Amino acid sequence: MEFQFSRRAQRIQEGIFSVLDHKKTELLAAGRKVYNFSVGTPDFSPQPHIMKAVAEAAMDPENYKYALTDREELLSAMQAFYRSRFGVELEKDEMMSLYGSQEGMAHIAIALCDPGDVVLVPNPGYPVFSLGPELTGAEIQTYPLYAENNFLPDFADIPEETARKARFMIVSYPANPVCSVADDAFYERLIAFAKKYQIIVLHDNAYSDILYGGREGKSFLSYPGAKDVGIEFYSLSKSYNMTGLRISFALGNRAIIREFQKVRSQIDYGTCLLVQKAAVAALTGPQEAVREQCREYERRNQALCGGLRSIGWNVPDSQGTMFVWAPLPEGYRDSAAFTLELMEKTGMIVTPGSAFGDLGEGYVRMALVLPVPVIEEAVERIRESGILGQGSQERK
Ligand SMILES: Cc1ncc(COP(=O)(O)O)c(C=O)c1O
Repeated sequence: MEFQFSRRAQRIQEGIFSVLDHKKTELLAAGRKVYNFSVGTPDFSPQPHIMKAVAEAAMDPENYKYALTDREELLSAMQAFYRSRFGVELEKDEMMSLYGSQEGMAHIAIALCDPGDVVLVPNPGYPVFSLGPELTGAEIQTYPLYAENNFLPDFADIPEETARKARFMIVSYPANPVCSVADDAFYERLIAFAKKYQIIVLHDNAYSDILYGGREGKSFLSYPGAKDVGIEFYSLSKSYNMTGLRISFALGNRAIIREFQKVRSQIDYGTCLLVQKAAVAALTGPQEAVREQCREYERRNQALCGGLRSIGWNVPDSQGTMFVWAPLPEGYRDSAAFTLELMEKTGMIVTPGSAFGDLGEGYVRMALVLPVPVIEEAVERIRESGILGQGSQERK
């Protein structure tokens, strides 16, 4: 039987990732050492008190039932956490848990817009920002992020007519993949823009605990007027190394939360109780490990960017996130071709910038998920390979 699948599903491309995966299998089969800088999963373990909470909860049969709602203790923990961490006051009807910000971004457009409505997303950007709304039939309009502007949007780049039509805008700092951090003035401009054009803002704050160079992680909701225009996604995945447990929160404007809760009540039966317990342990437990982990990411950031600069690849330090956004070495133009050549010659796997939108072309993204000595080894492989001096092959 020949199956016919949806046109929407056809828009989901495996593309370069399956090619990279195939290449990785080939290298491993040939006994080559592989340095995987492409995955966005931390290599750190969750803190023992979080694992203990899961283990204890796992012994209680009550925790295997449909959760249906966020438990009171989870909402109280989140409320206290946002107050102490970000100075943001939230009522319990201004928050809800999600099966990760990924899941939230994939579904929220169902609550916020209809087919044909305009949604503004960053280019380059994290793929689900456009894919989620696209699956509901929204019309995606990208706003450009340029290095000259520290990868912050210039609101003047958004045509007046597009702004008038837009239903919501997705913004995320510290930004994956471009690794920049937004300042206070940016959030003030964002809120003013949203109010002027009546656009809902969704701020994805997945990396609020991973900032470098003395920068401070903040919440979008800490800016005056933010709750009037939008919500924030706060994920426990990266801060607490809980990527596989799947929990994050949507927080902020109560009308948006209520509508999204209604939609999600038909999609799942609440966040698994074991996971809710783990989140309570993470949010109410000691936070020093979160800060120490950030310092370790910063050491890796310096080892990778400083190391690459020392061998002639001019990569700026990342400002935040667990990634580095590297312009291609001189003489290279095609990020997918460069990625394959880098893999072949050094065993280093990175993600081509083109996977994040056409303005990602000319860059590769590297995840800081390997310890400093391994990063130094990978930099040495690049130096030995001579790949940095060979880019003229691709010069147009
Ligand atoms: C910007 C951004 N948002 C969301 C996510 C996914 O977070 P979660 O694990 O909460 O679904 C990621 C993961 O890499 C991310 O980089």
